[in-house]
Amino acid sequence: MGTLVALEGIDGSGKSTQASLLNDQLRDRGFDSVVFREPGDSVFGDKLRQQFRDGRTISAKEEARLFIEDRRIDVNENIRPALVAGKVVVMDRYYFSTMAYQGALGLNTYQLQKTNELFAPKPDLTLILDLPAETSAERIRAARGLPDSYEGTEYLRRVRELFLEFCGSDVVAVDAETEVGELSAKILRKVLAVVEGP
Ligand code: TYD
Repeated sequence: MGTLVALEGIDGSGKSTQASLLNDQLRDRGFDSVVFREPGDSVFGDKLRQQFRDGRTISAKEEARLFIEDRRIDVNENIRPALVAGKVVVMDRYYFSTMAYQGALGLNTYQLQKTNELFAPKPDLTLILDLPAETSAERIRAARGLPDSYEGTEYLRRVRELFLEFCGSDVVAVDAETEVGELSAKILRKVLAVVEGP
């Protein structure tokens, strides 16, 4: 079996950049690694993207269901086969995102975890790229030219709090308010410790 690593964090935390850098650095070291991103390109992922684009009209429960169905396909088609082939699988978001984002909409995080873990392999390591919701909101505004949204920042604040509540032995927060290269080196160190073992 391979190794499963998940990068999580609120919007604007730099996960996608870091997932791609991590993949490159693992490959440079001779590891057979691959990145998968959620939401994926299933019909469920398409429906979710359309919701984010045109405004959210579905309930939190329906939103969670779509993320979970999208993930079920990702697990069957991408994640499990790569793990069986012995690869290092880097997830750009995974089920802790459902626990935090849909949890912040009022769903029970423990139930969401149980539902996901019935079918989704548990990561060997989850790194939460942590930064204040205000910094995240500023980065999003700068990148997408969106107006200031108090509700948006409040929501991200709750999502961040939940992510931090999940921390434990194999769920670790890293400070994402640092320079890209520095953060990338820190992430690589933590991942190598798991991939290479003690
Ligand atoms: P993502 O594609 O990571 O957004 P971006 O690249 O723009 O940062 O994720 C899209 C949104 O979906 C993001 O706001 C987080 C949210 N999301 C959930 O609410 N639940 C989930 O289970 C996942 C995977 C993502």
